Amino acid sequence: MQQNPQHKYGASGGAASPEISPILASLQQMHSKYGRNFDGAVATYIPELAKADPVLFGIALVTADGQVYEVGNSRHLFTIQSISKPFVYGLALEDRGVDYVLSKVGVEPTGEAFNSIVFDERHNRPFNPMVNAGAIATTALIEGDSYDRRLARILAVFARFVGRNVEIDRSVFQSERATGHRNRAIAHLELNAGMIGGEIDEHLDLYFQQCSILVGARDLAVMAATLANNGINPLTGERAIEERYVKNLLSVMHSCGMYDYAGEWGYRIGLPAKSGVGGGVIAVLPGQFGIGIFSPLLDDRGNSCRGIQVCEELSERFNLHMLGARSVTASVVRRRYRGDTVRSKRLRSRSEQAILGRKAAGVCVYELQGDLFFGTMEQIFRRLVPELESISHLILDFKRVAAMDDCARALLAQMNGMLAGKGRRLLFSHLTDATDLALREERAAGWTESDFSPDTDAALEWCENELIVAESGGSARDNAALPLAAMDIVAGFDPGELLLLQSIVKEVRYGAGVAIIKEGDPADSIFLLAAGLASVRLKLGDGARRKRLSTIAPGVAFGELALFDGGTRSADVIADVPAICYVLPIADLNRLSAGKPEINAKLARNIGRELSARLRRADAEIRSLEE
Ligand code: DON
Repeated sequence: MQQNPQHKYGASGGAASPEISPILASLQQMHSKYGRNFDGAVATYIPELAKADPVLFGIALVTADGQVYEVGNSRHLFTIQSISKPFVYGLALEDRGVDYVLSKVGVEPTGEAFNSIVFDERHNRPFNPMVNAGAIATTALIEGDSYDRRLARILAVFARFVGRNVEIDRSVFQSERATGHRNRAIAHLELNAGMIGGEIDEHLDLYFQQCSILVGARDLAVMAATLANNGINPLTGERAIEERYVKNLLSVMHSCGMYDYAGEWGYRIGLPAKSGVGGGVIAVLPGQFGIGIFSPLLDDRGNSCRGIQVCEELSERFNLHMLGARSVTASVVRRRYRGDTVRSKRLRSRSEQAILGRKAAGVCVYELQGDLFFGTMEQIFRRLVPELESISHLILDFKRVAAMDDCARALLAQMNGMLAGKGRRLLFSHLTDATDLALREERAAGWTESDFSPDTDAALEWCENELIVAESGGSARDNAALPLAAMDIVAGFDPGELLLLQSIVKEVRYGAGVAIIKEGDPADSIFLLAAGLASVRLKLGDGARRKRLSTIAPGVAFGELALFDGGTRSADVIADVPAICYVLPIADLNRLSAGKPEINAKLARNIGRELSARLRRADAEIRSLEE
């Protein structure tokens, strides 16, 4: 047997250490507790395995996102033996597909020992791929135009699962090859019954080779974590097996992985698992982590005694049983609000605000959190359906959604179809690369670009625009310049006052992307947006990044506080598209007001009214955050 540099205790991939990580401390405790137990015996039926050192004991746990916890002889290399079976089964599924593989190897537990000579006679196939009879038939299915090619393909699978090239223990291979008469007998019976074809000596040699692959407990935990991570090795990021076959592997591990102990294992521990006579055990908690244990002392079923004890205590301590009580679905809707409580950051003219005052309550935002799957989708629909009648636009905010499964994706597409049938819109905001990709894969939904907004504010703005266009027949996106008289800031001006004001107005045009106002500029004019769109942007940190504070629509004044405080500008205002502004220089305005003080008074009143409306909206938004 080979020995890798020893590693007593440790964690990697994060900041855990025995002192501060309760996970690692638990593994340590179990390692010292069960390390004192010398029940069982090393395998002797393969002579080379009889040389195993019964003291050796390693435990490793690797999370689905790649955090490694390992204790004891977790890097000591030993032969993988039967733990190779589910992984070669995965390759057979990739090579031949589920239907064909099922026709050749069943998935029923035998309740018998791993090397029992029993067959499913009704279907003329071995019972399952975890017992020797099924594993030999599975290996016989591996494609390749030569023995070397087939072996290379098998080794490549293990390299992907482990995250490095694997080697074969030649002496264990030769030892089993020379003494594996029972396995030869099984293969001959299968050939005789027509269950397998081709070169059976070649199939057997491949089977003995796969059993002699050298791994450590840490490697096993990485392999198990790869299954927990839907087939992607969490340490290398490489896909080891097609995602759709992961459940097939885990199913046979669950029902058959521990042979004639599989039923009790499932009852007590409740994790898909596989053991090998080299002393290894793996167990998987899908979506969370994989465990790898090495201790060569076996019970009379060929399962590692300490491996079973550690898994049993782990499952009990950490509540890992897959069928144990779970309650994870109730908090998927973090917050919900309507468009009349929280408006987009777009500053709108009074006429647009009037429309939104009547219509914005029809816009509804659901802020979601956690993963989306059947249970959480059902929670969302349960809240949503009773209020659907009053919703014109539904925005699903995915900022805190990390993942969704195929079921969630299909249900969302279905809901989109139902909403569209009623003339309603569904929009998504804050999609991550993963959730964006997953949604777009549902082609039948026919999503359009406007269904996906970078953030909820942009989605709200889009919905508001649509409401305004529907009501006013197109003003929200019109680009004709508004006359001075249509500006909110001159509400209540008589024609004479308007004419006076007109005499000091400068009409200025700005190209898209041009700064209308720059932070630090003297605040010496009021700007009225007559056409186009502009946004207020704040420089963040080093100034390289900018945050959009609000969007200004035609009819709205900005930089208007210059009337009161002078000083300098506190943010940039950029023309988002070609824009036209009416600029009112404060100096000219003061000269004008000297003779006609009502002008300044009316401007101040209009600005005050607008500011108070904005404050009220901000208050309502803050209150909605508390609810
Ligand atoms: O077929 C055999 O006998 C071995 N190469 C593998 C058996 C094995 O690991 C059974 N598992 N507990």
